[in-house]
Amino acid sequence: MNFELKALTAAAAAREKCDLLLVLVSEQAASGTFGSDAIGAMVAHAVKQGDFALTCGKQLPLYQVPAIAARRVVLLGTGAGSARDVRNALAGCGAVLKTDGIAKAVVSFAFDADAQAVAAAVQAVADATYLYTHTKSQAKPIALTKLVLGVSSKTAAVTAAFNTAVAQQEGVNTAREWANRPANHATPTLLANAAKSIAKAARMSCKIHGPAEVAKLGMGAFMAVAQGSREPLRFIELHYNGAAKSVAPIVLVGKGITFDTGGISLKPAAEMDEMKFDMGGAASVLGVFQALARLQPAINVVGLIPACENMPDGAAIKPGDVVTSMSGQTIEILNTDAEGRLVLCDVLHYAARFKPSALVDMATLTGACVIALGGLRSGLFSTSDELAAALQTAGDAALDPCWRMPLDEEYADGLKSNFADMGNVAGRAAGAVTAAKFLQKFVGDIPWAHLDIAGTAWKSGAAKGATGRPVGLLVQYLLGQQGKAAPAPATAKTSASRKSAAKPAASRRTRVTAKASA
Ligand code: BES
Ligand code: MN
Ligand code: ZN
Repeated sequence: MNFELKALTAAAAAREKCDLLLVLVSEQAASGTFGSDAIGAMVAHAVKQGDFALTCGKQLPLYQVPAIAARRVVLLGTGAGSARDVRNALAGCGAVLKTDGIAKAVVSFAFDADAQAVAAAVQAVADATYLYTHTKSQAKPIALTKLVLGVSSKTAAVTAAFNTAVAQQEGVNTAREWANRPANHATPTLLANAAKSIAKAARMSCKIHGPAEVAKLGMGAFMAVAQGSREPLRFIELHYNGAAKSVAPIVLVGKGITFDTGGISLKPAAEMDEMKFDMGGAASVLGVFQALARLQPAINVVGLIPACENMPDGAAIKPGDVVTSMSGQTIEILNTDAEGRLVLCDVLHYAARFKPSALVDMATLTGACVIALGGLRSGLFSTSDELAAALQTAGDAALDPCWRMPLDEEYADGLKSNFADMGNVAGRAAGAVTAAKFLQKFVGDIPWAHLDIAGTAWKSGAAKGATGRPVGLLVQYLLGQQGKAAPAPATAKTSASRKSAAKPAASRRTRVTAKASA
């Protein structure tokens, strides 16, 4: 989708040649006077007659209205006109946006929309018009290719929010696409190839570690999960160097179980297909890098993805097996279905070599988190109040919210083992928390946060499909870190040492393909 931000008065919106004009009207507009232009007069009339309510999501479809160039016109109520209202109102316009013959649409704000509302409109339209086609033989692309966002005035804040939102949505689409692909079309090797192709962008590089390298690193927990599968594991390492080498990177880690059968602790058959989404964390790392490629912010980011399948097999791990993690800590695998924490713990330990200013992992880790928070908010666990606050704020701003959960030491009690340094599961109680406590044993004193996205990375039922979350949250957070990162200690072996130092961000222009015309 090609998004364009345009300053459009109501009169100009009426003249804009397009197949569909969506006019967003808020209660704010109703309290004042509607313009005397064609659209304003029509809205005022419809409201007065009781034919159009401004409540969020209310629609009034019109056809070939005199003095309006668009063939179809839809008046859309957006309630108070907040970002959430705009998102929710536009979410109900999927059908009309996807109608045959609508190639160019204009979404015009008939009220003073703030920057967040404009960003929300980009998010909602992108969300409603994403179409999965990869394994459909008869797929027909959506006609809509051009979306003009008409705002009353193109302030710097609105333009910046628009550009960020366009990049966020490109990242979200990347994440959705890879998470949606079935496990036989999104193997660890294919994910690694996707990472390589994203890393062709400026200031990026990518390193793929195979089974031999991972064995050499001593990642015994990660290897243990992969040993039951015919698909060779891949450890994907992405680097984005947008700031000076001296700036400590933010390390993102994404769980990349391309299919989770549970292993010998086999899952029930019902809905097991959804375990192809168990690489949602990995997909979000790919999505974030896609967005970074476009935005080129002045930060350093490392993306790490342990990718493998969790399969039952003659060679698979068995309950009771003890493995040695890269950190040296031994783990009794009491349940082979608690595999996410096993692949993550080695990569979290590996992350320390980059001396990160923050370490954030994303994982579809526990069914317990789905029970706790459902599909609305991701679970947030953190050893740092500052990092937790930054992530929570970013999530709210990006309409990709999370909620902080506890990490009291007592929650780790259930992980005690008689045969190893720890077991990989505790009891049923507080399952999302005990999983986080397990991960915490591998992060040392690096400020760390864990996002349990088991409830938010995909939707089940009729709308079954990946959401691309938490790409929006992460991009928002990362952009907020520009200029904030404390310099890394002189001894830090940052990835930047592998590539020449980046130019100062101020001397660069943000490359956006989304045109911002006047
Ligand atoms: N990938 C699952 C978590 C999951 C389950 C996400 C259902 C979304 C929906 C994870 O690997 C898993 O199986 N976790 C177990 C842990 C348990 C064995 C301690 C779970 O949640 O049941
Ligand atoms: Mn599992
Ligand atoms: Zn899993």
